[in-house]
Amino acid sequence: MFEVGSQQDKHSHQGAEQPIPVLRQLLRILSPRRSDGQPGYPFPSWKRNPASMLRDKGLVAFLRRIRLMNMLRLHYALWDSRFEPLETVPTSGLLHKEDLSPDDASNLGQASEYAPSPRLVVQWLVDGLNVDLSRFTFMDFGSGRGRVLLAAAERPLKAVRGIEFSGQLNQEAVLNISNYPVDRLVCADVQSVCEDALDYPLPEGDCILYFYNPFGADLMDKVVRRAVDTAQARHTRIIVIYYNPVHHNALSGETRLKPRRLSLISRLKLGLFSPYPIRVYEMVRG
Ligand SMILES: C[S@@+](CC[C@H](N)C(=O)[O-])C[C@H]1O[C@@H](n2cnc3c(N)ncnc32)[C@H](O)[C@@H]1O
Repeated sequence: MFEVGSQQDKHSHQGAEQPIPVLRQLLRILSPRRSDGQPGYPFPSWKRNPASMLRDKGLVAFLRRIRLMNMLRLHYALWDSRFEPLETVPTSGLLHKEDLSPDDASNLGQASEYAPSPRLVVQWLVDGLNVDLSRFTFMDFGSGRGRVLLAAAERPLKAVRGIEFSGQLNQEAVLNISNYPVDRLVCADVQSVCEDALDYPLPEGDCILYFYNPFGADLMDKVVRRAVDTAQARHTRIIVIYYNPVHHNALSGETRLKPRRLSLISRLKLGLFSPYPIRVYEMVRG
């Protein structure tokens, strides 16, 4: 049975050096580490040192960066680390683009690195859609080690699908899914497949498409356009969630997609605690 906080024992200190609990908790938040000693959160590197960033980009960009780092740290320390005992392969951490080595490397140039979404962000997004989830297949394009799939599957969706072009990450996702406690899966139909996002056919019925900045503008545009074409031909619904929407301009030419509002409570939670911005769209039929 999963117990929130069971991970803490692995980090306990022995004897006289044991810090007081509050201090220990604070240290865990400031420098959260996995049980194997690796940093547990995807810490995007400063492209320039903090002082020159402050000078060149200004105070607002600097403060945004500090907020991002601390939000990533908080999500890992206070929530995502607690799920590590349930993961066969830890979903936390970063994997650089050079280490993804997909079987079909034709779109590697467009790929971003592997970094996981915070579980709570995924669940707040799904909850905030206010739709009958049992009608929707949730698809994570670039699903990595499967964290998003497992977070989404704790909601009453029709099915959950992950598409990942790195064979190694896909295998790790398959292991994480097959060993996950069944009693946590509200949606039992969860699969990760190894395929390029551009080749994967849209499942029948209504779909939620989730993207955590997996690739560049060109591919983003092609994948979304293809899905919208298919849904239009089939008269099905499509909702697009774009977390860290670096290339949202690539979607602006797609006039069939209109911004969609989430519930007030989800907007509040995400506005305060999402590390990155988010855009949500829905396909409108002409
Ligand atoms: C930022 S990570 C997001 C991982 C996961 N969706 C999450 O939010 O936890 C982006 C992922 O997209 C994958 N990816 C990049 N290009 C892809 C492509 N053309 N087809 C499928 N997956 C791709 C990468 O291997 C990486 O795992």
